[in-house]
Amino acid sequence: MKNVLITGGAGFIGSNFIRYLLNAEKNIHVFNLDALTYAGSLENLKDLPFSERYTFINGNILDQEFLNGLLREHQIDTIVHFAAESHVDRSILGPGQFVQTNIVGTFTLLEAARKYWLTENDLQEQVRFHHISTDEVFGSLKPGEPAWVEETSYAPNSPYAASKASSDHLVRSYGHTYGLPYSVTNCSNNYGPYQFPEKLIPLIILNALEEKPLPVYGDGQQVRDWLHVEDHCSAIHLVISKGAAGSTYNIGGDNQPANLTIVETICDILDEQKPRANGTAHRDLIKFVQDRPGHDRRYDMDAGKIRRELGWTPRRTLNEGLLDTVNWYLSHPEWVLAIRKQLDYQSWLAKNYDAREKTS
Ligand code: NAD
Ligand code: TYD
Repeated sequence: MKNVLITGGAGFIGSNFIRYLLNAEKNIHVFNLDALTYAGSLENLKDLPFSERYTFINGNILDQEFLNGLLREHQIDTIVHFAAESHVDRSILGPGQFVQTNIVGTFTLLEAARKYWLTENDLQEQVRFHHISTDEVFGSLKPGEPAWVEETSYAPNSPYAASKASSDHLVRSYGHTYGLPYSVTNCSNNYGPYQFPEKLIPLIILNALEEKPLPVYGDGQQVRDWLHVEDHCSAIHLVISKGAAGSTYNIGGDNQPANLTIVETICDILDEQKPRANGTAHRDLIKFVQDRPGHDRRYDMDAGKIRRELGWTPRRTLNEGLLDTVNWYLSHPEWVLAIRKQLDYQSWLAKNYDAREKTS
């Protein structure tokens, strides 16, 4: 690993991973390719460590010629592919962009890698295409069903999950057909610093601080398997350095409270850290709203393979991670302000939440 291309590095997980990697690997150069959509921001990359070993490139994974030139020019030997449309609610409102970015974008990137690594050169032994995927490709678990393992069949339910499943299959097929050295990680829900406030945890923290309603979809008893983003980063780093080519790993935090419990926990932390001016509890802001169409009920990842084979262990419990995360948002008002100004955030919120305002 020498010249590493990160796609989507101006987003939530990608920016955390760039920080992690620059600290962990002292002899690499990181190239961050990002189109800076509504979800990407250079605010996420301020104060990078070792920034002399880092280059930002504003570009699109859908641009084949540009990608071909980029890989050649910078002699890229490792690709870690985060760039995607990542929000389920948006995929319900407008699936077309998810098909373009997540499926066609991944295909375009795979073609560039195949051309530079395998067709124009013979770099098979020195390269790796690592694809970042999600647990949502597995669908939804019924009560009592066991956690998902790497061999579980895909059954994606949302347009987001289907687009990620499709991109996973493309990556695998390039390995099988062309011998492209790849790996895939399917991770559960992440939380932590720099997460765009359309996802549950940052949305609840920032709405609560702004005295806005805290929207809980349906009965709030849906379950996600929460993982702190830094624990996700350590897992990806292990897989790209030690995981065999052609391998897939599930990553999960083994933290599965219901959504309502997460929201109440954040409220209780804020009551301690930043009490409301009127002295009442933040829980009073909770508002049950209309459920998401096709809402997956329960996710649960079995991360036994990466623990056994690569010795990965998450470092944070959910309670520690949530406290750290609330404190991070409280101590970064300048980041919150900059992100709040991002182009279509307010209009998107209005579109999504006004539709749900009818209390169920
Ligand atoms: P994010 O939405 O915060 O960031 C996505 C980034 O990709 C943004 O910086 C955006 O500008 C960039 N991007 C989008 N389209 C692009 C294009 N066409 N060309 C170049 N850049 C483009 O996403 P995230 O939450 O950081 O997720 C990163 C990856 O991890 C995604 O592939 C997602 O599916 C996966 N994942 C996310 C989670 C989670 O909980 N957030 C969990 C498991 C897997
Ligand atoms: P989200 O952060 O959008 O991640 P994902 O849909 O990929 O799991 O949502 C996490 C859970 O929280 C999901 O079950 C939907 C629910 N949710 C709410 O109840 N209210 C909200 O405002 C949001 C954004 C999500």
